[in-house]
Amino acid sequence: MSGRGSNMTALVDAVQSGEIPASEVVVVISDNAEAAGLEKARARGVETLVIKRRGRSREEHDADIADELQKLGVELVCLAGYMRILSPEFIAAFPNRIINIHPSLLPDFKGIDAQRQALEAGVRTTGCTVHYVDEHLDNGDIILQREVEVLPDDDAESLSGRILKQEHIAYVEAVRKIVADS
Ligand code: GRF
Repeated sequence: MSGRGSNMTALVDAVQSGEIPASEVVVVISDNAEAAGLEKARARGVETLVIKRRGRSREEHDADIADELQKLGVELVCLAGYMRILSPEFIAAFPNRIINIHPSLLPDFKGIDAQRQALEAGVRTTGCTVHYVDEHLDNGDIILQREVEVLPDDDAESLSGRILKQEHIAYVEAVRKIVADS
């Protein structure tokens, strides 16, 4: 997580309430010490770690994160607004164990500003996708999607807000499914 942390919070709340059974949020990691989500995680009693890039290569930064995750015995890595692209080495360290949420119906509108891309393309329906992470951006196998209608007077903010509500539902549903199947 790099910022606001609303998807992270949705997952923590679902684990703590039992909506996602038989699971535990072991740690919340951010590359940004100022991320508002860190305080939200701490307030929920979840351990947090800040691992800054500090001018190092992506590979070195990712190796530090992977070490911490492995030390803590983490089984599933949930990216939630993590604004960096992971190295192939990191992805290989957690095969089929890294998932991400993206605010579009992939494969449409990969990359940043997906909601704005949808508005500019003039689509009538967009949404969000939870997917496995592979070495390509917003590309791995899709776990589930939720649709959101684009309204005639939508701007990027109003559309993003409605998609975000669906993201929270989708992410919880996806993690519940993965935990149940494992
Ligand atoms: C979400 O829109 C997510 O889909 C995207 O980044 C945003 C993060 O929001 N990857 P939050 O930090 O979870 O509130």
